[in-house]
Amino acid sequence: MSGCSIREITILPGHDKHNNPEQFDRIVIRPGDTISIVGPTGSGKTAFINDIEVFAQNDTATGRTVLVNGEIPAEEFIRDPSKKPIALITQNTKCLADMTVEAFLAMHVRARKITTPDIIAKTRELANQFTGEQIHAGCRITALSGGQTRSLMVADAILISNAPLILLDEVENAGIFRERVIEVLKEHCKSVIFVTHDPLVSLLSDRRIVMRHGAVEKVLYPQGRELPVRDMVARIDLTMCRFRERIRAGELLTEPGYLV
Ligand SMILES: Nc1ncnc2c1ncn2[C@@H]1O[C@H](COP(=O)(O)OP(=O)(O)O)[C@@H](O)[C@H]1O
Ligand SMILES: [Mg+2]
Repeated sequence: MSGCSIREITILPGHDKHNNPEQFDRIVIRPGDTISIVGPTGSGKTAFINDIEVFAQNDTATGRTVLVNGEIPAEEFIRDPSKKPIALITQNTKCLADMTVEAFLAMHVRARKITTPDIIAKTRELANQFTGEQIHAGCRITALSGGQTRSLMVADAILISNAPLILLDEVENAGIFRERVIEVLKEHCKSVIFVTHDPLVSLLSDRRIVMRHGAVEKVLYPQGRELPVRDMVARIDLTMCRFRERIRAGELLTEPGYLV
């Protein structure tokens, strides 16, 4: 969580939906950590990341407490959106403004009082590393595809919001290069939590938090043991991406040679 005074975010246990205490001691998130949250619908995944987003102090449905650098977070983190160290992107995060990509990013840069030269172009270039469908400066925000919008939101969270911790709640992954996104997040020393059912994203994460009945049931640390399966899933995924690209390009898929 570089460029910021945050060294770690700690989650202290609360209780499940039946008020039974959660069975973990603490969950600590540090710069560069990649975590995925899995579990059935209604098991408390969104509630878990919302607790982090609002810096819960035993005042949410789950009874959890969130600390920043081991302490109760400063008021400015909570009240001032421009100082907030967390960016939450959900299925419902949409850019409704009918303006160009350039104007939209410029508006956000002004709101955050950022003076870094070329930040708008850099953000668009980064977004273009996450999607095969190029985003041009003059594109209207409302005309972007789902994959382009998600890529732009993630690039914006990394460079403009400059949030050290990024939370993605079941953001559909189609149309974005997930391995590249995770690589870039690590390069920028960002921490990221994905609520996801995507096998590739889950397998690329360092830790997997498993939710059940509103509580953290367990935390899995694969530590390399999933590598053979991860490689296989990555190959299947790449094959699927290539199929998708060829179908988009109008090809008839009669030829083999697409297997990776
Ligand atoms: N520990 C908990 N105690 C009480 N209610 C909870 C708890 N965890 C989740 N809930 C509630 O259960 C419902 C489903 O949780 P949610 O986080 O939306 O599940 P998911 O995102 O996994 O589908 C929500 O109304 C949420 O507020
Ligand atoms: Mg949810």
